[in-house]
Amino acid sequence: MSQVNKTLTITTGLAGKVSGDIIVPGDKSCSHRSIMFGSLAEGTTHVSGFLPGDDCLATMNAFKAMGIKIEGPDEQQNVVIHGKGLRGLTAPQEALNIGNSGTTIRLMSGLLAGQNFAWQMAGDSSLNKRPMARVVEPLKLMGANISAAENGTPPVISQGIDEGQTLTAIHYDLPMASAQVKSCVLLAGIYADGVTSVTEPGITRDHTERMLTAFGYPVKVEDTSKGKKVSIEGGHQLTACDIQVPGDISSATFFMVAGLIAKEGQLTIRNVGMNPTRIGAINILQQMNGDLSIINERMAGGEPVADVVVKSSPLKGIDINERDVPLAIDEFPAIFIAAACAKGTTRLRGAEELRVKESDRIQAMADGLKELDINCTVFDDGIDIVGGQLTSGTIHSHDDHRIAMSFAISSLRATGEIQILECDNVATSFPNFVTLANQVGLTLNQS
Ligand code: S3P
Repeated sequence: MSQVNKTLTITTGLAGKVSGDIIVPGDKSCSHRSIMFGSLAEGTTHVSGFLPGDDCLATMNAFKAMGIKIEGPDEQQNVVIHGKGLRGLTAPQEALNIGNSGTTIRLMSGLLAGQNFAWQMAGDSSLNKRPMARVVEPLKLMGANISAAENGTPPVISQGIDEGQTLTAIHYDLPMASAQVKSCVLLAGIYADGVTSVTEPGITRDHTERMLTAFGYPVKVEDTSKGKKVSIEGGHQLTACDIQVPGDISSATFFMVAGLIAKEGQLTIRNVGMNPTRIGAINILQQMNGDLSIINERMAGGEPVADVVVKSSPLKGIDINERDVPLAIDEFPAIFIAAACAKGTTRLRGAEELRVKESDRIQAMADGLKELDINCTVFDDGIDIVGGQLTSGTIHSHDDHRIAMSFAISSLRATGEIQILECDNVATSFPNFVTLANQVGLTLNQS
């Protein structure tokens, strides 16, 4: 796990050309779920392409602390999970420390709400500020003995439910488009009596639905007038399987933006996950006139994947379609850098969820862009960014991996040096980011 108190800096230098052929690490969402479902499955699950980032290692360590034997990741990023079935977990001896990972705490709150033992989860200073009432409230409706701190932040604490009891199935209309909340309720539904269902107000990533299906757990998905409804009946079994984790489109987006804003060059990014619930950044960057071609489309492990070819492009500002917001929710910091390099104004609205990510990403990005002399206006639920000339300066990433990587990429179009502080958490999602960035033509120095 990275030491969040240590300050790493990435000092960027000017580089004009981005080119090459790269593979980005495995998808974070799929890697988390592979450990969770593999642990609860009957039999041995083999995972390939696992992301060895701190967030996914936190999930792995939490299941190890509950008695699951997990091998790897080895150098090829293979992981073997010796599942013990739905009732195979044992009580952790101490509070589970899940570092920086919102996905771990929210999905595991659902998975663990129906266990008979007590547990506690908390994380680092960034995670401990993030909202957990959004998962605690529906879990209480299901009869879980669960709570968060008074202001709704971690620790999340459960006393467990009585031996022989189960949770109660509910229908839940999600108040916000959140895959983490949807997944939390559905995973609790595995331990509930009857059918638990969730309706989402906007399309969110569907890795939980896909991967549960791959583990043989029945999941029903329907379109309703209120939005997509996902239902799950408690009490079925997960059966071990082989999971191929695709490359993370969220990590690939930094390189898509790098390739587009570079003065010249062509970059190929291989084996990128193309799940339709994740491709908002591609839609947005293409609308901004980005030359992105999707080639070699194929299926791998129940998820669509493809290679992405990126060419340097004259970008233009756009009004971002609100429908693309949940489909690009993690990619906005990188998209804001594309907007800063585009001709004209890019406007984003309907994105208030960005304020409760690893940092307040609207404010953190606006502060950084202003430091580099880019004109932007902040709104409660979005931002207007006027494309211009990035200059030089010192950026606070607020321990947020995606803020750090976005400003690292921005150096391609800056007139001087950019120093980015608090970069340790890049290791949560993209441990080899600096190496890959330098391989394609950037000049980043870590110290
Ligand atoms: C995730 C869902 C998203 C995303 C996060 C990973 C997941 O959060 O931001 O990085 O794996 O389910 P929300 O669903 O809360 O928007």
